[in-house]
Amino acid sequence: MSDKKKMTVPDFKKFKQEGRKFCHVTAYDYTTASIVDDSECEIILVGDSLNMIMLGNQGTVGVTVDQMIQFIKPVVKGAPNTFIVGDMPFGSYNVSPEKAIENANKMLMETNCDAIKLEGGIEMAETIERMVKAGIPMIGHIGMTPQSAASFGGFRMQGGTPEGAKKVIEDAFAIEKAGAIALVLECVPSVVGAAVSKAVSIPVLGIGAGPDVDCQVLVTQDLLGMYGEFKPKFVKQFANIRQAMVDGLNAFHQETIDGIFPGTEYSFNKKVEIPEI
Ligand code: KIV
Repeated sequence: MSDKKKMTVPDFKKFKQEGRKFCHVTAYDYTTASIVDDSECEIILVGDSLNMIMLGNQGTVGVTVDQMIQFIKPVVKGAPNTFIVGDMPFGSYNVSPEKAIENANKMLMETNCDAIKLEGGIEMAETIERMVKAGIPMIGHIGMTPQSAASFGGFRMQGGTPEGAKKVIEDAFAIEKAGAIALVLECVPSVVGAAVSKAVSIPVLGIGAGPDVDCQVLVTQDLLGMYGEFKPKFVKQFANIRQAMVDGLNAFHQETIDGIFPGTEYSFNKKVEIPEI
């Protein structure tokens, strides 16, 4: 059991003011959540990236609110000492602020997660403001927003021109003004990450946004080397769990075909007289 103290909503502002760095990773199941809970990482995102990583689909669009809820629930159970963010899937918040509030309420009430994240800058600011007024702790997500990857021509860096950088900074201001507790900033040049972080009073949770942001975000399956299919430039692999798992499975297979496993150590060795059948 971890003795880590769970981060709270007021801690977001406090950490920013104190210049304290922190980490945000993904989890989509009980076991992974409990492993993150044992680590020092402060935040778990149950991201719609699960549509790729857990469900094997292309991109993040397609997963539903009910599916997200099914994945968030075991994560909440597995990580009682970690702040948990539920990601709103495409289609669940872009119809109207009322629909967004309804879906976010459902996600919060059915899962007991701690905050809700959605993608979009200026265009989503009014929705975020309404959600905050409804009492929902909100996190924005700007820069490269994967749900709109098709309109960017794929998973591409954003803010790479002066106009693009201005748009990212304006989006950040809009999210801050709307009352979000933090914003995810994805796939922008490091100078843009630094400028956004300097400009706003809420923490910037950077993924591919360089070193000068308040928090680093990575997908757990990427940073631990579990997901083999897609490796963006900003992913550092801190472990090779995929290879460790393949090695473990092959060791099991080899001992099985060699007749070594299970042996007496892993068998019930009670003597029983077997009747004639
Ligand atoms: O869904 C997700 O995993 C995300 C992160 C990439 C921030 O939104």
